[in-house]
Amino acid sequence: MPDPADWWRDAVVYQVYPRSFADSDGDGTGDLGGVVRRLPYLAELGVDALWLSPFYTSPLADGGYDVADYRDVDPRFGSLADFDALVAGAHERGLRVIVDLVPNHTSSEHPWFQEALQGRGKDRYIFRDEPNDWESIFGGPAWTQAPDGSYYLHLFAPEQPDLNWDHPEVRAEFRSILRFWLDRGVDGFRVDVAHGMVKAAGLPDVGPKEGRQAEMLGDEQVPYFDQDGVHEIYREWRPILDSYPGGRMAVAEAWVSSPARLARYVGPDELHQAFNFEFMMAGFDAKSFREVIDRSLAEAEIVGAPTTWVLSNHDKPRHVTRHGSLARARAATLLMLALPGSAYLYQGEELGLDEVLDLPDELREDPAFLRTGESRDGCRVPLPWSGTQAEGFGFGPAGSAAPWLPQPASWAALTAAAQEGDPGSTLTLYREALRLRKAHPALGLGSIEWVQAPEEVLVLRREPGFTLVTNTGETPVTLSALGLAGEVLLASGPMAGETVPPDTTVWLAR
Ligand code: NOJ
Repeated sequence: MPDPADWWRDAVVYQVYPRSFADSDGDGTGDLGGVVRRLPYLAELGVDALWLSPFYTSPLADGGYDVADYRDVDPRFGSLADFDALVAGAHERGLRVIVDLVPNHTSSEHPWFQEALQGRGKDRYIFRDEPNDWESIFGGPAWTQAPDGSYYLHLFAPEQPDLNWDHPEVRAEFRSILRFWLDRGVDGFRVDVAHGMVKAAGLPDVGPKEGRQAEMLGDEQVPYFDQDGVHEIYREWRPILDSYPGGRMAVAEAWVSSPARLARYVGPDELHQAFNFEFMMAGFDAKSFREVIDRSLAEAEIVGAPTTWVLSNHDKPRHVTRHGSLARARAATLLMLALPGSAYLYQGEELGLDEVLDLPDELREDPAFLRTGESRDGCRVPLPWSGTQAEGFGFGPAGSAAPWLPQPASWAALTAAAQEGDPGSTLTLYREALRLRKAHPALGLGSIEWVQAPEEVLVLRREPGFTLVTNTGETPVTLSALGLAGEVLLASGPMAGETVPPDTTVWLAR
């Protein structure tokens, strides 16, 4: 019997981006009350946990990843009472709740930064007389001049000054913030920029490079990411998490150069998990999927922790668009949900939503947009729940203000209500997949076995009695040609007899 405190090892976690999930008060912005109203939907979907992107007091210079008060809810998103109702309602339905923790930087509106601008407590941030050559991830220099003439570091927007993690007060503050939310009953944390808090001593230049520094991340070490010192912070946090009952966990958002570097964030004395973005970055072909899966599982095994899988989140184009079609997205999802480890879903992927590519520039809010021309707004468009476009697809109650970003007319067929009860809908596919994953608990745990198959086809054997076929090629394959038989439990697209068409995943009982 697995220990219930280990719930996160094979959990399916649903990411809620509160601003765009559901609006309960009709102002066009999603809120915690909207999440509470939709808890029955999430329970019926069959996920194990919710991860809430930031809902804290914030000027929303970066969609809430610029926190001005770590212990309160922004009035646009509700109140602490709404948060408590959300946790209680989720727990009643057996859903765990993970909150986002943003320790690399605060908002420039945070009282500490406001004090620093007045010359008090400047050493809680990173001020220098002269900038170095570091660039912001959102484009442009990572330094902005303060009114007193000095420069402060911001790896993201100027409204997100980086904290100085060499300062004991900063460390103590975050230990206290962890306890604040643990005491309110949260089951875990998603740690934002978990690879960023500690910078190389002396803040050395990166040196001349072709192109933007952000583009080399992932291949090369830079002096502001993935420094050894970050691991000390997690070793301070882990005993705090472990001191609470019921299996409180933390998952790292860490963009590092290899699965081996990523594995260093995870273990019994650091964080429980780290997002495995390699799977999200893989192309839709059997070879890439297989390589990433093998590498991820091998690294995870070394540290004795399960890996994680992600296909979409609030920072990357939705996987329907990235992989080029809904059929491929559905096939990739069924592949992901049959792998050992935990899976993170992003709100709206269960509806098969695509990236909204034609938002008018003047409505885009992503701080990266003005600096790089790239914007993440297209995956943050408010969800379509029901009804017509003119009614905001039921994002808020009748008569609400228009959703804060416009929804495309093509979503009329993709509302949750339109998909309800339709056996071919993506919503039904996700519900079925999650139901089957629960019915076969071994799917989320254990190891995998590849079965010999043509180059464009993946055949994966899982627990006794479960086989997966993904056809990423251009020609159909038959189960018998693969040496397979057995009952089809679920298919991501229509099968003709025992033929698996291109861009399709099939789950077989066998
Ligand atoms: C990662 C978050 O996912 C992203 O949305 C945010 O812009 C950056 N961290 C900075 O906090």
